[in-house]
Amino acid sequence: MRTTIISVILGLAFVTGCSRDQSEELNRVKQENADLRAFAAPPPAQLDSLYPPIAPAPLYQIKMFEMANPFSGFILKMNEGDREGAKVLFESFRKHYSELSGLVPEWKKSFPMAPLDELERLIGQGEPGKVMEAVGNVDMICQECHVSNLPKVQYRYHWQDFSTISLSDPVTKQDLAFKRFMLTLELSMVGIEIEAQNGNLEGARKHFDNFRNRFTELKNACQACHESERKYFVDSEIDDLLDNLGKALKSSKPDPAAVAGLGQRIGMESCGKCHLVHLPAAYAKNRWMMAQKETM
Ligand code: HEC
Ligand code: HEC
Ligand code: HEC
Repeated sequence: MRTTIISVILGLAFVTGCSRDQSEELNRVKQENADLRAFAAPPPAQLDSLYPPIAPAPLYQIKMFEMANPFSGFILKMNEGDREGAKVLFESFRKHYSELSGLVPEWKKSFPMAPLDELERLIGQGEPGKVMEAVGNVDMICQECHVSNLPKVQYRYHWQDFSTISLSDPVTKQDLAFKRFMLTLELSMVGIEIEAQNGNLEGARKHFDNFRNRFTELKNACQACHESERKYFVDSEIDDLLDNLGKALKSSKPDPAAVAGLGQRIGMESCGKCHLVHLPAAYAKNRWMMAQKETM
């Protein structure tokens, strides 16, 4: 009997211990879930009012620079041993930091005041070693927000949207969304290689003509976002590769390996490298759009 009571008591203690563990675990998982959602989501919509087209300039970015300048200036003055000059710049930094902390309510808690208070206290004491350690702690605040949020703010506000661009397909004379146009390029390119391998010269040449015309049209897309003349991806070096591919296909008995080799170089130097630069931003926008559709 006694052993039963003891084991019941022990059992109860075990159950309550477990449920505490479980609720801690549940909270941890909930927090982790919220963090991951925030990480995957687009930046807070409140930023819209601080960027074109609503604002006349990227105001949030400009304010970041206005805050960073006195912060770096303060470190410079500390290194030069000019404590008075350093204090003035620190005060200016603090003023900009406070102002920035209120601009995006969702990010308010990412601008803690304690590390700045500590830094100010140490500047007063005048021990450069300790000051620099406290500077490192302030820098951590900047780092923490930047690694999670800076790229997505760049994608959202400094990259235009590829999905708003359409190109006229020179083969079918249809207007195609950029993404669809990419697919036609891909199909022409694959067509050249497959028909060359099959020994279907007419077919390979036809796909090449289509590819070349489509590639020429692709150059018009750059102007949607770039004002300066484009180097790389669609420049004269790629045109030379296209010329060589055209010549290789003109011979009465094209060498399939040479054709495939030129195709691969175009794929790597033009398509592949342009994708390396432009896909991260384009796909971030696609991902946000897909997530929005899922919640609708
Ligand atoms: C709560 C988030 C957050 C915190 C905290 C933060 N930043 Fe930023 N910062 C950003 C975002 C977002 C951008 C990107 C703005 C843009 O590109 O339009 C940025 C951009 C910058 C830039 C411009 C970078 C560039 O090359 O365009 C500088 C400089 C900068 N921050 C300095 C700092 C410093 C110094 C601190 C800390 C004292 C800090 N930031 C703290 C979010 C933050
Ligand atoms: C939807 C907008 C958009 C389109 C269309 C676009 N780009 Fe870009 N591209 C950007 C942005 C934004 C950057 C980042 C740096 C900048 O703004 O120049 C960039 C960067 C680049 C860079 C590296 C930095 C530089 O400016 O040299 C190259 C090269 C480039 N693009 C080439 C091209 C070419 C070639 C095309 C057309 C085939 C093209 N881009 C089409 C938005 C675009
Ligand atoms: C501006 C530089 C640029 C060049 C040059 C370029 N692409 Fe793309 N490509 C993109 C971008 C940006 C996307 C993503 C578009 C989107 O999802 O909105 C893309 C997407 C694609 C896709 C995926 C389409 C889909 O349905 O998701 C294929 C396939 C493709 N490109 C093939 C090519 C081939 C083949 C070439 C070379 C002959 C090429 N691209 C050259 C920028 C470029």
